Amino acid sequence: MASMSQIQYLIALFLIIASWSSQVLSRKLQDTFLSERHELWMAKHDKVYKDAVEKEKRFKVFKENVEYIESFNAASNKPYKLSINQFADQTNDEFKAYRNSLKSLHGLMTIIGTSFKYENVTDIPVAIDWRKRGAVTPIKDQGQCGSCWAFSTVAATEGIHQLTSGKLVSLAEQELVDCDRKSEDHGCEGGYMEDGFEFIIKNGGITTEANYPYTASDGTCNTNKEKSHIVTIKGYEKVPPNSEDALLKSVANQPVSVSVDAGGNFQFYSSGIFEGECGTELDHGVTAIGYGIGDDGTKYWLVKNSWGTSWGEQGYIRMKRDINAKEGMCGIAMDASYPTA
Ligand SMILES: *[C@@H]1O[C@H](CO)[C@@H](O)[C@H](O)[C@H]1NC(C)=O
Repeated sequence: MASMSQIQYLIALFLIIASWSSQVLSRKLQDTFLSERHELWMAKHDKVYKDAVEKEKRFKVFKENVEYIESFNAASNKPYKLSINQFADQTNDEFKAYRNSLKSLHGLMTIIGTSFKYENVTDIPVAIDWRKRGAVTPIKDQGQCGSCWAFSTVAATEGIHQLTSGKLVSLAEQELVDCDRKSEDHGCEGGYMEDGFEFIIKNGGITTEANYPYTASDGTCNTNKEKSHIVTIKGYEKVPPNSEDALLKSVANQPVSVSVDAGGNFQFYSSGIFEGECGTELDHGVTAIGYGIGDDGTKYWLVKNSWGTSWGEQGYIRMKRDINAKEGMCGIAMDASYPTA
């Protein structure tokens, strides 16, 4: 007859094996579940991979991103949320490499500077949302083209045009991508908003989105369409850098092109007031179209992005405002400019 201790030993052994096999099973189930999620996600975002190797590689990245996003969201101490959006099969480095393509000449530009017409502005509302004043066109999508700079140039130009003419006209990023061939502006390979404004000034205007539709690829400049000068600007000014106060005076008066470091969690931002992690290596051009104060008293910038409506808050991001660093959240106060009409 087995002694009591032998029985106890057998029971313990049985429990260990049971728990180990259930862990293996649950991990297997989790992987199956995740690979089904990957399939569903692929269908939802029209993803097609060239072969099984690529698919396996993308699945691994997807899995890591899903695990990261879910653990981030589970931590309740965060003021913003992430989501498994259309970029979920890309590593952060891949994402930054093809999408963020701001080619700024700052340094040089900062030294030159411009006049700043909002210098002495004192009438600054507590909150501004230029969408409510009809000065912001619907969210656009740059696609797999490093044309953020063109979208930012256009959004700021659409804004000042509406504020001075009363008409909201959607303008042509593709014209900038194809026709602005200044040495540092290379269409989908990146560009810079101030050069975009300079192009519009020198060209004598810019045409409409409808006339010169966006293709998300480098094309040959259509010179006939380039001659269509539907909207003009007189010039542009730089917001004095590293001053959220100067940026506030500007955004209180019109939508403003801003540069940010769109690294880290920016890729998966979905809602709330974003507060990093991010650095100040400016690599993405977006547009500040307002500012306000959140329910918990946190001040924020309201920023229009060009990654479609499934990213962020229907295509927008709220970024923490008035932070200790003079550069602002993700460097938002470092390199801002606006067109003048
Ligand atoms: C702001 O006020 C100062 C002092 O009165 C003046 O010299 C400057 O020209 C003003 N700036 C603008 C843009 O009006």
